Amino acid sequence: MFSCYTLETLAQSALLDPPARLSVLGDPVAHSLSPQMHNPALAACGLEASYVRIAVKNADFTRALHDLRHLGFIGTNVTIPHKCTALDSVDAVDPAARRLGAVNTISFLPDGRTLGRNSDGPGFVRAVQQEFGADIRDLRILLLGAGGGAGGAVAVQSALEGCRHLTLTNRTQSKADEVAHSLRDLLPTQRCLTLPWTPQALADVLPNIDLIVNATSLGMDPTDPALLPDGLLTPSHLVYDMVYKPLTTHLVAAARTAGARAINGLPMLLWQGVQSFEWWFDRPAPVQAMRDGLTAAIASSSSS
Ligand SMILES: NC(=O)c1ccc[n+]([C@@H]2O[C@H](COP(=O)([O-])OP(=O)(O)OC[C@H]3O[C@@H](n4cnc5c(N)ncnc54)[C@H](OP(=O)(O)O)[C@@H]3O)[C@@H](O)[C@H]2O)c1
Repeated sequence: MFSCYTLETLAQSALLDPPARLSVLGDPVAHSLSPQMHNPALAACGLEASYVRIAVKNADFTRALHDLRHLGFIGTNVTIPHKCTALDSVDAVDPAARRLGAVNTISFLPDGRTLGRNSDGPGFVRAVQQEFGADIRDLRILLLGAGGGAGGAVAVQSALEGCRHLTLTNRTQSKADEVAHSLRDLLPTQRCLTLPWTPQALADVLPNIDLIVNATSLGMDPTDPALLPDGLLTPSHLVYDMVYKPLTTHLVAAARTAGARAINGLPMLLWQGVQSFEWWFDRPAPVQAMRDGLTAAIASSSSS
């Protein structure tokens, strides 16, 4: 009916067949690919529910949660700019989301309470497991962009999982230092270092890295500078670029040319969606239906 609801039109989402029972709240939110991933999953499981986008101003966030509960929603995702507001608006927060300071998945519990969690970190870990067949605990990770929102989620989850080693770097180094400091209780200092973002520092560290993660926004624009100096990638590297538009960034192309295994940001988007679905329904998600929905949505958004 609507590609995007507001709180004023939300009641009409009950007229959908099946009725809306899940959503993503954001501002802006019209670009979100989550409906194209979750609606095929709901259909594949025979669940009588639709997933919709709802544009909500930050000042209306608490009212939005109230309205969704009133309308019988099962849960909602939360995106920019509400992830921190969501943390303060729910009744209970899981420890990883609390540490991250951001909630992106809310469940409306049968007892009337709201529970906030964050699927970004678990989505990253599952993507690495599923796409590379690798366990985070065995990996020495270099994280580019550790000071951003996505980078923070990767850093916290890698530390929570007990990765072998974590090297954090960020254009504004003080932010990487802050993240490293916040992880002191999870990883001893000899397993968590920060690095100045210079060609020499990268050249020195890369021979001792298994997984390189790009959590910066560099790569979205074809004119962006290269993230790593030429000639440093080798076939032993795993490269995880969180950017998914374009699907093949300079970093992914350079990694493949060097014989390294590389993936783009689609798997993280997929596996964080899988995680949200499994939290809401307490059952395995139909991953292939979600992957197909997402791939089709990306293909149609790239051609439009
Ligand atoms: N695949 C997924 O599911 C998924 C999920 C979330 C995000 N992402 C992607 O991850 C990227 C970051 O998103 P975010 O939400 O974390 O954004 P954010 O909070 O705004 O962080 C941006 C990061 O990029 C760095 N950066 C920006 N411009 C740079 C430049 N010219 N040179 C070096 N570093 C630069 C920033 O460094 P400073 O701190 O110095 O500014 C910061 O570390 C985006 O491409 C986003 O699309 C993907």
